[in-house]
Amino acid sequence: MGGQHMSTVPRILAFAGSTRRDSFNKRLIMIAAAGATAVGAAVTLIDLRDYPLPLYDGDLETKEGLPANARKLKDLFLANEGLLISAPEYNSSITAVLKNTIDWVSRPVPGEASLNCFDGKVAALMSASPGGLGGLRGLVHVRAILQNIRVLTIPEQVAVPNAGEAFAPDGSLKDAKQRAAVEALGAKVAGIVLRLRG
Ligand SMILES: Cc1cc2nc3c(=O)[nH]c(=O)nc-3n(C[C@H](O)[C@H](O)[C@H](O)COP(=O)(O)O)c2cc1C
Repeated sequence: MGGQHMSTVPRILAFAGSTRRDSFNKRLIMIAAAGATAVGAAVTLIDLRDYPLPLYDGDLETKEGLPANARKLKDLFLANEGLLISAPEYNSSITAVLKNTIDWVSRPVPGEASLNCFDGKVAALMSASPGGLGGLRGLVHVRAILQNIRVLTIPEQVAVPNAGEAFAPDGSLKDAKQRAAVEALGAKVAGIVLRLRG
C-alpha cells in the first residue's frame, strides 16, 4: 500500500443485486460507476451472475468452508473502500441474490476480524423498477442491513420508477436530472472515501 497512486485514487466496487441479463439495475449501476470514474475513482464493476453461489447453508459451510466465489467476492470487498449498489425490489424488500451474497461474504474466515470486509466501507444505494416507486421500499431494507454490518451508507439515494421507459437504447437515462443524480452518487462516495483516509 502507500504511494501516490494509492493515496489519491478511491477504490470502489460496483454491482447490481440482479443477475438478469437485461437488468435495469445493471444499467443504473453503470451510470453511477461512470460518475465515480469521472472524478478519478478506480471502479471495479462486477456482475453477480459471474459469482454464482449456493443458497447459504450452515452445514455446507461446516463441511466445505466458504465457496470459491464467496472468497473471491470477499477479496473484492476487502480491496475496495467504497460500494455502489443498485438493488432491485422484490416484494418490497431485498432480492435473494443480494442477501445471499451479503450472507456468504459476511462469514468470517480463520484469522479474520468479524465483518472485516464491510467495516467502514462507504456505500451509495440506488434502485430501478418498472413500478411507480422505483424500488424505494426495498432500499429501506438494504440500507438497514448494510448499516448493521458496519457499512456507512450515505443519505443520498436514487430510485428510478417506470424503468421500462426511463432508459435510452444505449443504456443511458433519458432524464438528464436523474442521470446527474445517479452520477453524483458515484462522485460522492469517491469524495467521502478520500476524506475518510487518515
Ligand atoms: C419476485 C418478484 C417480486 C417483485 N416485487 C416487486 C416489488 O415489490 N416492487 C417493485 O417495484 N417491483 C417488483 N418486482 C419487479 C422488479 O422490479 C422487476 O422485475 C425488475 O426488472 C427487477 O430488477 P432488474 O431489472 O434489475 O432485474 C418484482 C419482481 C419479482 C421477480
